[in-house]
Amino acid sequence: MWLLPAWVLLSAVGAGSAQLIFSGTDVVERTDCNKTVILPCYVTNLKDNNPNVTFVTWKKQRKIIFSFDGKNQEFFRDPEFQSADLVSRADLPKGIASLMLSGAEATVGNYSCEVTESNREGETRIELRNHSGSWFLLMERAIIIALLFLVITLCAAQSSVIVLKYETVPQKKTGIIVAVIIFVVAAVVGTVLFVQDGYTAQNQAGLGLIVVPAVILVPLQYVMFGIVFDSLPQATFALIGLHILGYVIAVVGFALCVSACPPLHGSVVIAGLAIMAIANLLSLAYVFIMGSRMKDHPRPGKAVEEPLNDAKGVMLE
Ligand SMILES: *[C@@H]1O[C@H](CO)[C@@H](O)[C@H](O)[C@H]1NC(C)=O
Ligand SMILES: *[C@@H]1O[C@H](CO)[C@@H](O)[C@H](O)[C@H]1NC(C)=O
Ligand SMILES: *[C@@H]1O[C@H](CO)[C@@H](O)[C@H](O)[C@H]1NC(C)=O
Ligand SMILES: *[C@@H]1O[C@H](CO)[C@@H](O)[C@H](O)[C@H]1NC(C)=O
Repeated sequence: MWLLPAWVLLSAVGAGSAQLIFSGTDVVERTDCNKTVILPCYVTNLKDNNPNVTFVTWKKQRKIIFSFDGKNQEFFRDPEFQSADLVSRADLPKGIASLMLSGAEATVGNYSCEVTESNREGETRIELRNHSGSWFLLMERAIIIALLFLVITLCAAQSSVIVLKYETVPQKKTGIIVAVIIFVVAAVVGTVLFVQDGYTAQNQAGLGLIVVPAVILVPLQYVMFGIVFDSLPQATFALIGLHILGYVIAVVGFALCVSACPPLHGSVVIAGLAIMAIANLLSLAYVFIMGSRMKDHPRPGKAVEEPLNDAKGVMLE
């Protein structure tokens, strides 16, 4: 029976400054994929339904980050929350005071929504939490980076064999080394940007740097085969075709992924990189096997001696 007087007392206190009542959840979750985050705030008992007498204040951990003064139609935004805005100003008279933030500015924490209508007011608290979920899963990122470094290793192995063992004009060797360096630098920068969690311009640029510059491997492979073989055997064209196939698949996968979060086609990028790795592996094996066979039966015009001997020869001349 003591509950009733307590309730009467509380109502009397409440009546002093008539309370606004809120509905809705008090916890919302976001992932890295949320480009915009909406913090819900619904007032159920607005009386005037007049934007001119409505005042909205949003706070984060007690600090005001956004306010809207309906009387003067004035906004305030904290510099750290420049993206903050009411979801719909037109819906404010209906009691919708939800806040919209960019994903980057909507850091996790406790927010509060305070609404005043004439002399009635109320406040509700919304906790914004992280929910695991990102552009690429950790496993996908690990596979993409592992395949990239497999491609780099195989490509570097093949070019080292060719630069060290085969004779050609120095410009071609310099060209090979420069191409490999460009590819490696792009791959390393891309990896650094891509490896972090998130769906930002940085991650997207990172994946782009991992995939797009790999086009350099196609002419590189063509030049390297040209050094090893006088006239390119048909198998080398098949191998270059495999390089191109892998590259095209990887680029298509990149284009599909860059616009979607979570990426529905991460496997396409992985498939493209895997084909590129296979093409590199087969090319390396082919150069190794066929190239050494040619070394046993050198054809005229194709010097295959050790570079050291050649250098001596040049100096003697
Ligand atoms: C984040 O995005 C998901 C999917 O689009 C959405 O359901 C969710 O409400 C968003 N979270 C917030 C806090 O806006
Ligand atoms: C709000 O104020 C504006 C200008 O002061 C007035 O034109 C408008 O009718 C008012 N709206 C309401 C719903 O009273
Ligand atoms: C938000 O408030 C809840 C409950 O009061 C608390 O458990 C949580 O740690 C707070 N979160 C932050 C980021 O302060
Ligand atoms: C929430 O996730 C973001 C981005 O993934 C991260 O920067 C932040 O530290 C996380 N916050 C907490 C409290 O886990």
